[in-house]
Amino acid sequence: MPADLERIYGRLGFGDRVVYSNFVASLDGVVTLGDRPSAGSVISGRNQADRFLMGLLRACADAVLLGAGTLRATPGHRWTPEHIYPDAAAGFAGLRKKLGRKPQPRLVVFTRSGDIALDHPAVVAGATVVTSEAGARTLGGRLPDSCDVIRADDVTRAVGELRLRGYEVLLTEGGPHLLGELVQAGLLDEAFLTISPVIAGRDVDARLGMVASVEFLPDRQLWSRLLSARRHEDFLFLRYGLGKS
Ligand SMILES: NC(=O)c1ccc[n+]([C@@H]2O[C@H](COP(=O)([O-])OP(=O)(O)OC[C@H]3O[C@@H](n4cnc5c(N)ncnc54)[C@H](OP(=O)(O)O)[C@@H]3O)[C@@H](O)[C@H]2O)c1
Repeated sequence: MPADLERIYGRLGFGDRVVYSNFVASLDGVVTLGDRPSAGSVISGRNQADRFLMGLLRACADAVLLGAGTLRATPGHRWTPEHIYPDAAAGFAGLRKKLGRKPQPRLVVFTRSGDIALDHPAVVAGATVVTSEAGARTLGGRLPDSCDVIRADDVTRAVGELRLRGYEVLLTEGGPHLLGELVQAGLLDEAFLTISPVIAGRDVDARLGMVASVEFLPDRQLWSRLLSARRHEDFLFLRYGLGKS
């Protein structure tokens, strides 16, 4: 890590082949707010330390994996380090260079339906779209030239194909349905979780936790290890390791 970044977060590094997630949750475990856009920003209150960490984790990655639900819920966003935390743009660029990464992480959008906004700026800038045969037909030839397609029925095949294409250090920013599939498939190695000191509540909206559409407890016990815990003011920044490594 360049010293200016390490001074802010502390030491951070990853293995050569890894899948890690990053989410922000309210004190009561909520990560989505029904149909409201940009739930993460609302839940973190646009906290600057959280945004710095988002940038830092993006800066370490070969690719950022995203479900179509998150793309739809975040109009106008770019999943690049400097978009989320412009003040550290030079430091992030220096880190990528030092790590031998390309200038920007590749965005990888998962959509079975193929129903994604082709004019979303993150798609226009270039994305790899993971989709089904039906989704590929829906997309037709309409994707911008900056995009390419992986046809895969499940996340294991998709991640395998990404690795063949040289994307080994993979960050997922969700959402909960995509993360659920990655955990179910045993692909998630590490989970970064910011606990925001706000209470979201649950009543009318579907308000999800970090993992959706799959249940583990009580039958399947997926315990993790706490790798680091950092605090900035009232926010907690946690890093967990899953699996045996
Ligand atoms: N608090 C946080 O840190 C945080 C982080 C990220 C997201 N969020 C919030 O989470 C919400 C979205 O999450 P979500 O769980 O509803 O959706 P999601 O996980 O982002 O996306 C689900 C969609 O991804 C596609 N998909 C999933 N698995 C696939 C596979 N194996 N192959 C191809 N496509 C696949 C499908 O798209 P199609 O429907 O196109 O078939 C599916 O409907 C938003 O509200 C967002 O703001 C919060």
